[in-house]
Amino acid sequence: MTEQQIKQRAREILEKMTLEEKIGQVSQFPYRDMTVEEMQAFIREKKPGSLILCNSPLGGQVEQQEVNLDEINLLQKAAMESCGIPLVCGRDVIHGHHVAFPVPLTMTASWDFDLIRESYDAIREEAINDGVKWTFTPMLDMCREPRWGRIVEGTGEDPYLGECFAKAAVKGFQTENPADERAMFACAKHYIGYGASEGGRDYNHTEISEYSLQNYYLPAFRAAVDSGVATVMSAFNDINGIPASGNKKTLTDILRGQLGFEGFVVSDWGAVEQMADFAGFAEDHRDAVRIALSAGVDLDMANGLYSDHIPSLLESGELTEEQLDTAVLHLLETKLRHGLFDHPYIERRAYDSEKHLQLAQTLAEKSIVLLKNENNVLPLSKDAKICVSGEMATATTDLVGTWALDYDKSLSHSVLQVLRDKVGAYTVRAEAAYKHSLREDPDAYVVVLGDTLGVTGEATALADIRISEKQLSVVRMLKRTGKPIIGVFCFARPMVFGEEEYLFDAILYAGHGGSRAAQAIAAVLFGEAEPEGRLPFTLMYHQGQLPLYYNSLPGSRQINEYYHDVNPMHANYSDCHGSPLYPFGYGLAYTTFDYSAVSCDVTEKTVADMENGETFRFAVTVKNIGARVGVAVPQLYVWDMVGSRIRPLRVLRNFRKLSLLPGEQQTVQFEVGKKDLGFYLEDGTFIVEKGDFKIFVGENCQTENKIEIMLT
Ligand code: GLC
Repeated sequence: MTEQQIKQRAREILEKMTLEEKIGQVSQFPYRDMTVEEMQAFIREKKPGSLILCNSPLGGQVEQQEVNLDEINLLQKAAMESCGIPLVCGRDVIHGHHVAFPVPLTMTASWDFDLIRESYDAIREEAINDGVKWTFTPMLDMCREPRWGRIVEGTGEDPYLGECFAKAAVKGFQTENPADERAMFACAKHYIGYGASEGGRDYNHTEISEYSLQNYYLPAFRAAVDSGVATVMSAFNDINGIPASGNKKTLTDILRGQLGFEGFVVSDWGAVEQMADFAGFAEDHRDAVRIALSAGVDLDMANGLYSDHIPSLLESGELTEEQLDTAVLHLLETKLRHGLFDHPYIERRAYDSEKHLQLAQTLAEKSIVLLKNENNVLPLSKDAKICVSGEMATATTDLVGTWALDYDKSLSHSVLQVLRDKVGAYTVRAEAAYKHSLREDPDAYVVVLGDTLGVTGEATALADIRISEKQLSVVRMLKRTGKPIIGVFCFARPMVFGEEEYLFDAILYAGHGGSRAAQAIAAVLFGEAEPEGRLPFTLMYHQGQLPLYYNSLPGSRQINEYYHDVNPMHANYSDCHGSPLYPFGYGLAYTTFDYSAVSCDVTEKTVADMENGETFRFAVTVKNIGARVGVAVPQLYVWDMVGSRIRPLRVLRNFRKLSLLPGEQQTVQFEVGKKDLGFYLEDGTFIVEKGDFKIFVGENCQTENKIEIMLT
């Protein structure tokens, strides 16, 4: 169907709907604590537009009932018989279904968005097969605040990676043909600015300038909309005193007017009612419904508030039927656009679970970031004598990560188990390590540290993001042996360990790698897989540096220690430096690479040239100068040095992944055009301005491999 046909058909359906059916269509209820028959009767009575397949708002932290395809088809049958409009049933399929893939922040460290898309396609195969037609993914909340537990559900601190992730996840779930019966509805969330929650405290106030909204928080959502995302979820937080779920400017003027979003907006769970209950923005739930529907929330999640209060708001004239129709049309058009009227029922179809497991392991391997490798202690040889220790050495499901509702726990293994099976690794109590070491002389200690389930995800902010002394005390004891200490960090969020980094000879940042996390770690430890991950966030040296991120604006004096450009008189802190421990984009390989100087076809163009679509062409030759194959990730950053707004010192605008054999070299070309050199003004206008720009191409954001270009 063409867009025009969709709109026409939706209008025809709307005109036949009763007021009760319209109100039902913009209402969502949870499918819980009811038999199928009871729920069928409920559907016939309430005629909801949607069900949420979750039994509580904290779906990422508490056990959820299973989903059942046959039951969902029976519920759909009740809907089709009662009003002829199919239900859309949603569930949090965030990073896997029966096979768990790495959590989003961990998988983003792979910088392999083709693989991420392939992974979400596999996840779709599993979830649709259980009757889940709509997932509340991708989470696109830009975040520079590692104290916030939900940083692990997003893509980190950079908008460009956010855009790449948005496209990959939306296409993975919705396929190239969103109307296909096996396609799902994706959901870009949490719109908008949730990742800026003050102090990292969940559900907190956010202060976001129009400039930051347009240039930092919106780009990933723009990419999701441009990819045809079916739905958007409005966030809990307020933006400068106006709740995201009651904010007409962001929900309608910007999302639909500026970005061109055509689907429907669902609130987050309770985001409407809390405008009255806690935020002091609505008199009561009825008032909150008036505000939310007027602002642009088409569907109230889970609570049936719209069903409860729209009738009286219409009677009093505080809402018009036209406003209701607008929301109903958004639901109907989206369901038509995504084939739900043509295929309301889902059939079971076999899929290759083993292939999904292998995919999950490959993605987990590629998501591991090698931070340190003193004296090339890694990769380990297969006949090495390895002693495994650390709080997470025996962890299994803790390595899966938060928001994994349906994963098969039997698929998970511990690092100790996998290394024992692989090379006969064994474990020893840290207190006994010194004497053991004298007696048994192991080649190395692999120490697995990390955070357990329940300290990442929703409502899990931490005031202290240092690695705990309890975990580090083991390392200090092992350090006394004088043997190499290999740290495997199974932390999903960016942690702080600047003053303890010296304890480790090697560090792998493995995140929460999903069902095959342990096997992925083992593969990288022994060099069966090359470490190719790069940090999608900054690892601070000290948590007192918060916030510390790569795409920062230059200050009013020479204070940028992130880029070692600081006047000692104005150093960031008198008790600490202002540099990260490891910068954004950082990651080592088991080999080393040489980068040529950056070359450019021309170094001067006009603004008009850029407006006409011309581009600068940059080239860099990358050579593997080591003895092992390795993956280089050349990254291109832009610095617009003078403008009508101060621009960040570095903005990631492109990258490649190159697998190079020893001695092999490749020349990579990057085109840089208007979209890379320009920025958004507060009103959403995109502009490119004349002036000097520096273009950096290197191994991470701190590279000084640069060339200057000019726009006149
Ligand atoms: C939760 C989360 C949201 C999730 C929704 C449904 O409160 O904020 O990310 O998709 O409710 O479980």
